[in-house]
Amino acid sequence: MHLNSLPFFLFLIGGIFCQYDYDPVGYYPSEPDYGYAHPMYGPSTALCAPECNCPVTYPSAMYCDDLKLKSLPIIPSGIKYLYVRNNMIEGIEDNAFNNVTDLEWLILDNNHLENSKIKGKVFAKLKSLKKLHMNYNNLTEVVGPLPNTMDDLQITHNKISKINPNTLEGLVNLTVVQLQHNQLTEDSLSGVFKGLNSLLYLDLSYNKLSKLPRGLPPNILMLYLDNNQITNIPDEYFQGFKALQFLRLSHNKLTNSGIPSNVFNISTLVELDLSYNQLKSIPTVNEHLENYYLQVNQINKFPVSSFCKVVGALAYSRVRHLRLDANNLTRADLPQEMYNCLRMAADISLE
Ligand SMILES: *[C@@H]1O[C@H](CO)[C@@H](O)[C@H](O)[C@H]1NC(C)=O
Ligand SMILES: *[C@@H]1O[C@H](CO)[C@@H](O)[C@H](O)[C@H]1NC(C)=O
Ligand SMILES: *[C@@H]1O[C@H](CO)[C@@H](O)[C@H](O)[C@H]1NC(C)=O
Ligand SMILES: *[C@@H]1O[C@H](CO)[C@@H](O)[C@H](O)[C@H]1NC(C)=O
Ligand SMILES: *[C@@H]1O[C@H](CO)[C@@H](O)[C@H](O)[C@H]1NC(C)=O
Repeated sequence: MHLNSLPFFLFLIGGIFCQYDYDPVGYYPSEPDYGYAHPMYGPSTALCAPECNCPVTYPSAMYCDDLKLKSLPIIPSGIKYLYVRNNMIEGIEDNAFNNVTDLEWLILDNNHLENSKIKGKVFAKLKSLKKLHMNYNNLTEVVGPLPNTMDDLQITHNKISKINPNTLEGLVNLTVVQLQHNQLTEDSLSGVFKGLNSLLYLDLSYNKLSKLPRGLPPNILMLYLDNNQITNIPDEYFQGFKALQFLRLSHNKLTNSGIPSNVFNISTLVELDLSYNQLKSIPTVNEHLENYYLQVNQINKFPVSSFCKVVGALAYSRVRHLRLDANNLTRADLPQEMYNCLRMAADISLE
């Protein structure tokens, strides 16, 4: 079998992609959307704050969105899902949730919440709380203490520069932590995520990290660190991770000298985004990697050994999508022997 010629299944694509506006489904999840309950809006149940809506078909949910509220409404007992989005709430009183200590979801996105105006241990009383969303507020520190029932914490688009090292301690079921678009540095994260063995999804993108955070828990599946100022990766940094599948480090300051030779050879990894850095060569990846994003770097060589140490019947790269556009590479720079190694590639974009 002659595999040295350009096989039919390999499409070399040049110039048709704009920066990030290609859209493989699910690659960049859009902002969370809770709109699914809105169509249920209808007559409100009796046990509801007068200005809010508690759908008859979903009476344990209370919707108080877009009401210009300056403080939380009265919350009758029986409410388990509370939405108070797009208001002007600056603080939360100590007794705010006294009627609903079994609240499960508390969604406070898009308010003016400030740490100094959140009184006492107001969240710790919520002994069944699972989701706490405080995206788009005015917080400078992650709120706490939090109950150990939590599974989803989102405080994106605030001014967070501080997390008390104990704030997340013991949250054994915490699965999702989203802290993108804040002002976190690596020092502020020291020890914070220790022991969170359920954590699968950690988003620290758009912060001020110049180093990778230390002490991340071992089961993380998705780690997003793009849009920081990370210059280098410590040797063996990823060895403690047992399940890492999606790693984003685009829009950082990575150079080849800051990347130890096998650091991204992670056998569980499916997707690696190193686009918008300062790489001159292609970092070595594991044979199982499927999506590799390297656009907008300064790459001027294509070593096949970055994908395949040896090539054979069973030894080949599983890369399907490879982006190399906006580098210093042309089609003529691609070595013939790459076609055998990259035999699964559906598209390789160049130029
Ligand atoms: C608790 O519920 C009672 C009766 O519905 C109400 O009068 C009171 O204001 C509520 N308290 C809070 C803090 O929402
Ligand atoms: C956020 O807090 C700062 C002071 O810490 C204040 O000047 C600013 O007006 C607040 N912004 C909002 C939207 O509440
Ligand atoms: C964690 O989740 C498991 C499974 O849902 C549950 O049985 C357990 O009680 C939870 N732990 C806490 C502290 O909420
Ligand atoms: C990645 O690491 C494995 C295990 O150490 C090794 O067998 C493989 O050759 C490496 N891949 C590349 C492309 O160097
Ligand atoms: C691109 O690579 C060629 C050699 O492959 C080199 O001569 C040229 O200077 C490089 N250009 C840039 C902008 O790095």
